[in-house]
Amino acid sequence: MTKKIIITGSNGQLGRAVNRQYAGSTEYELINTDVDELDITNIDKVMELVRSIRPYAIINCAAYTAVEACETQEDLAFRINAIGPRNLSIAADETGAKLMHVSTDYVFDGNGTRPYRETDPVGPQGAYGRTKLAGEEFVKEFSSRHYIVRTAWLYGDGKNFVRTMLRLSETNDKVRVVRDQVGSPTSAAELAKAIAYLLPTENYGLFHGTCEGDCNWAQFAEEIFRLAGRKTTVEAITSEEYGAAVKRPAYSVLENYMLKMTGGYMFADWHDAIAEYLGNITEK
Ligand SMILES: NC(=O)c1ccc[n+]([C@@H]2O[C@H](COP(=O)([O-])OP(=O)(O)OC[C@H]3O[C@@H](n4cnc5c(N)ncnc54)[C@H](OP(=O)(O)O)[C@@H]3O)[C@@H](O)[C@H]2O)c1
Repeated sequence: MTKKIIITGSNGQLGRAVNRQYAGSTEYELINTDVDELDITNIDKVMELVRSIRPYAIINCAAYTAVEACETQEDLAFRINAIGPRNLSIAADETGAKLMHVSTDYVFDGNGTRPYRETDPVGPQGAYGRTKLAGEEFVKEFSSRHYIVRTAWLYGDGKNFVRTMLRLSETNDKVRVVRDQVGSPTSAAELAKAIAYLLPTENYGLFHGTCEGDCNWAQFAEEIFRLAGRKTTVEAITSEEYGAAVKRPAYSVLENYMLKMTGGYMFADWHDAIAEYLGNITEK
């Protein structure tokens, strides 16, 4: 008998990567849903689907990820990023399913000077981080067998920084990119691997899950151009010079401390992950 896994937000970057991760599996059967099939903000629909499928696990890949839009649409962001995982937690707990939930580095204030561990105090600076943190809290409150994986600077099959840089490089000799935000670019493929590693285990709780190493956005852009063989140069600027509408954490490097302490699982270095990603998209 295959183990059924409900995927929410299956058309998003992580949803697609999780599908690739499990492609060809004879052990698991994925039931893909995005907002049209299952709106996670609707508790009745969530209960109905989860009760009818009685899955082994739910992987919540759904989220409201538009950081700027969250500021003006905080209620909507709260419904998707907090009420959604709450609903999934209630349904998972009732039916005995495991719940895999994904959160963000933006739960931290960004004033740190060393990589954040899972035990460090949170302090979100914006609506996106606040709503994601509320989601984490609901998952802890309502689901007994949960994993919460905080990731960062995610890129996969969808709208993301890497694709934006590649597009800009087609028409620009130079791009201006901020240098005063440091983090760990993480490929959705690497995150999906870690999810598949955790899911069969009883290793529940809160984890940081990002690629190893860190950089600022300007350095990330330089590496993208170098690997993609683009001539475009990067002008490294401050967030103030860029005129960003929303304050983002200056330093949001996460240490995958719990993964290392509970089994030694290691993510790839971010340089290797972006090289693999670019290799795959240029092959297409
Ligand atoms: N992207 C990043 O840089 C980043 C960084 C840190 C953490 N994360 C976290 O990583 C996870 C995966 O992010 P991602 O980049 O894969 O997100 P994504 O590409 O934006 O995908 C999210 C998916 O959820 C869907 N969705 C929105 N509202 C929904 C609802 N009410 N019910 C069901 N589905 C709904 C979206 O549909 P529509 O497109 O139609 O709205 C989209 O297909 C999220 O938890 C996110 O918070 C992401």
